[in-house]
Amino acid sequence: MRQHVNPLSRYFQLPLKLPNPSDLFENYDQPIHLDIGSARGKFLLGMALMNPEWNHLGLEIRRPLVALADSDCTQLGLANLRFLFCNVNVSLHEWLLDLPNDLLQKVSIQFPDPWFKRRHYKRRVLQPELLIALANALQPGRELYLQSDLLDVIQPMVKLVEMSGCFNSFGDGRWLDRSLFPVQTERENYVLGQGLRVYRAIYYRNKNKVPELIVLEEKYKALDCLKKRILPFKTLDE
Ligand SMILES: C[S@@+](CC[C@H](N)C(=O)[O-])C[C@H]1O[C@@H](n2cnc3c(N)ncnc32)[C@H](O)[C@@H]1O
Repeated sequence: MRQHVNPLSRYFQLPLKLPNPSDLFENYDQPIHLDIGSARGKFLLGMALMNPEWNHLGLEIRRPLVALADSDCTQLGLANLRFLFCNVNVSLHEWLLDLPNDLLQKVSIQFPDPWFKRRHYKRRVLQPELLIALANALQPGRELYLQSDLLDVIQPMVKLVEMSGCFNSFGDGRWLDRSLFPVQTERENYVLGQGLRVYRAIYYRNKNKVPELIVLEEKYKALDCLKKRILPFKTLDE
């Protein structure tokens, strides 16, 4: 199986219509936890087993992983878990626009990118347009959870979230010292097994107006941490 695919290639730029919650889940009025870049799906599977009162949707650009995750889900007969193939930067916006108010309550983006070189930042998942779509879909108090083992990857993500003005950070701007989820992702298991550091941040949607895309894009492009290493958080040990 391919380790990663280029999301900017023509094939992955074709928009897909993602099914509505009523076509995905048995109890479709339950709150949704959306996991972006769900890979093999073990994290969301564990979460769905532990939280039957939530629906869980994993989105993943590598189709074979979606098929494997889906088959686990079918075997276990879980009606609160689905995995879909798509490029979130192309197909998620429409789906979010059609969502009933306040159905999306939690979003996780965990160890998202193999594109750690700064010149590849356009291939990364969390782009201004996606952040704006998420900010529009999340009601005040709803959560956005980010984690990565790579500072060069997570720094632009937290900067982008903070520049949007739409989210408040938990933990006084410091990295969280542990995961807030009872289940670890596949990558998290691997990274922790290697004794490596994980950088985690959680944000809550505030009541601020969502900025214009063009404004956020300009600010994002000007980010120093896309050019050189700068610490946006007050980490003590970096
Ligand atoms: C390093 S893996 C981490 C997977 C999982 N979240 C974990 O922590 O174990 C990142 C995943 O995000 C997926 N991904 C990257 N860009 C994507 C995009 N634009 N749309 C959907 N999935 C994407 C990749 O295919 C990959 O499976």
